[in-house]
Amino acid sequence: MKFILLSANCVLAAAAAAGRPKCASVHALSRTPASAISQPHVPQFVSYSFEPAFWTEFFGEPDSPRELTFSLLNHLHERGVRPIIRAGGITMDSMVFDPSQKLSVVRTENEEGGIYRTTIGPAFYQHWDNFPEGTSFVSTLNFGNNSVSIARDLAVASYQLQRDKITYYELGNEPTNYPTSRWNASTEAYISQWQEFTEEIDAAIDDDSHGRWWASSATTDVTPLKVRPSDLIPAGVNSTGQVGLYSIHSYAFATCEPPRAARATIPNILNHTDLVRYADDEIYPSAQAALASGAQWVVGEFNSIACSGKPNVSDTFAQALWTADVELLYAVRNASSVHLHQGATLAFQSDQQLNTPGDDGSPGFSSYSLLYPVDSTKRGEARVLPVFVSQLLVAEALADGGRIAALETPRGVREQEFSAYAVFYPGEGGGELRLAKLVILNMKPYYAGQEAAPSKLSLDIGKHGGATVKRMTAPFVDEKDAAKVTWAGQSFRTGEAVGELALERLGRDKRVSVRDSEAVLLTFEDDGLKF
Ligand SMILES: *[C@@H]1O[C@H](CO)[C@@H](O)[C@H](O)[C@H]1NC(C)=O
Ligand SMILES: *[C@@H]1O[C@H](CO)[C@@H](O)[C@H](O)[C@H]1NC(C)=O
Ligand SMILES: *[C@@H]1O[C@H](CO)[C@@H](O)[C@H](O)[C@H]1NC(C)=O
Ligand SMILES: *[C@@H]1O[C@H](CO)[C@@H](O)[C@H](O)[C@H]1NC(C)=O
Ligand SMILES: *[C@@H]1O[C@H](CO)[C@@H](O)[C@H](O)[C@H]1NC(C)=O
Ligand SMILES: *[C@@H]1O[C@H](CO)[C@@H](O)[C@H](O)[C@H]1NC(C)=O
Repeated sequence: MKFILLSANCVLAAAAAAGRPKCASVHALSRTPASAISQPHVPQFVSYSFEPAFWTEFFGEPDSPRELTFSLLNHLHERGVRPIIRAGGITMDSMVFDPSQKLSVVRTENEEGGIYRTTIGPAFYQHWDNFPEGTSFVSTLNFGNNSVSIARDLAVASYQLQRDKITYYELGNEPTNYPTSRWNASTEAYISQWQEFTEEIDAAIDDDSHGRWWASSATTDVTPLKVRPSDLIPAGVNSTGQVGLYSIHSYAFATCEPPRAARATIPNILNHTDLVRYADDEIYPSAQAALASGAQWVVGEFNSIACSGKPNVSDTFAQALWTADVELLYAVRNASSVHLHQGATLAFQSDQQLNTPGDDGSPGFSSYSLLYPVDSTKRGEARVLPVFVSQLLVAEALADGGRIAALETPRGVREQEFSAYAVFYPGEGGGELRLAKLVILNMKPYYAGQEAAPSKLSLDIGKHGGATVKRMTAPFVDEKDAAKVTWAGQSFRTGEAVGELALERLGRDKRVSVRDSEAVLLTFEDDGLKF
């Protein structure tokens, strides 16, 4: 510890603006990294996965793009984000290509909204031209059907229409969830069929796809078939040299059946200690296997609560705190990109799940998405959700090749309620790393209607020559109205930035304060601090 603990007592802060004095406890934040410093992050780090069956709801058609979704992508583009879009998820395993279909996507459903086929036409790929410049795509292929011609037709169509925008191909979503009879729980049987398909597809689409396959795409569920990257790499999945990188899916919570739904609560998804535990126990061994073999790894699909989220949890400001913390946890662990999943309830995913499609079989949009893209019987009017601001925070924190490390919990603060990171850049002329930014998340829930006033952490961050502070905040952790959720003073409920940009200035050597259920990004005004 470099800095001494000033006081763990609660002191009366001078600003009693809300009418009653706020309690601020003063703590010293060590700026010395408590983890390794990550690789420099790329503009693709903040990326997405969109369930292909609901592509048109989110993006519209080429001649009528969905403005609300594109407005969000544009806010990210302005901040340097160049996402990789994966049209992936469970419905990619029922995707077929029909060259004569006029619409981008047609779902074939039963009466309860169960989707058993997702037919895409050329417009699906042509629409990629409407995305902000620099956006690239994963061409996702159906492995579920067990038909090489269905997978190959998708690959060939995507290649013919959009070869320059395709950075990777992916065969199959979450093979861990396929019927056990497909490979009889044999990792080798899986690999041999995966290699057979990918080789045949490579041969059909010219050889420049070679070495551009995502491999694994497994979940962390305990299943008889072991195909996480940590299983596939030692078993030789790249013996034919086709793997471009490794992808794993991260869902620590779920509403797929009642026992897990009961645990998917705001206090649980904001338990930072538990988020670290899941990242280290379930995800990092696969990351490490990839990195040790000289390969990149990505969180190819993730969100807070599997099976489409949980209303009153994932559609609140808690989801913004969760997303910011988890994306930064994976940034520290050198993920190249993290693909936040967007979609709607899939009736075939589980017959005991909490969520359902709309009564008329229309989409029951996932409450963990960035937005409800269209009006719907299930979710009401189209609008942006509170989580969106987290994407701006992460984009700005890692911009321009930021390298990130975790910081220790200050003495006197509960580890599960706190998370902080330091971001570094090379000094002048590519010299030694300098500390340029801090991200501090106060994960302690502060609920609407809670009797006690929220507490505030007042953090002594050591000597500095002044900093600019951007704040991610909402009146309460369970706030559901994105109009009241702000990033640096601006809200985004309709896609437009509303409000003046509010940059707080932190004077030389001053402390920064962070209320319960709030986060800040500090950018030091000095040209990067030595640490
Ligand atoms: C991330 O990559 C950097 C090198 O760029 C390395 O020093 C660090 O140990 C890696 N971190 C982890 C958690 O693997
Ligand atoms: C495979 O695709 C064909 C053609 O769409 C369809 O008839 C069949 O039901 C599919 N099989 C599976 C297992 O999805
Ligand atoms: C899996 O086991 C069943 C029953 O023993 C057998 O019929 C089937 O051929 C096996 N499949 C594979 C891929 O080995
Ligand atoms: C897979 O093998 C090829 C050929 O040896 C190599 O170029 C590529 O980097 C490997 N991919 C990964 C992800 O390790
Ligand atoms: C937070 O998570 C940690 C690690 O899983 C666990 O030990 C602790 O009990 C959790 N806290 C609460 C209040 O549930
Ligand atoms: C969400 O909270 C509202 C207001 O408290 C309540 O009416 C509604 O039933 C809750 N929804 C769910 C799915 O728990």
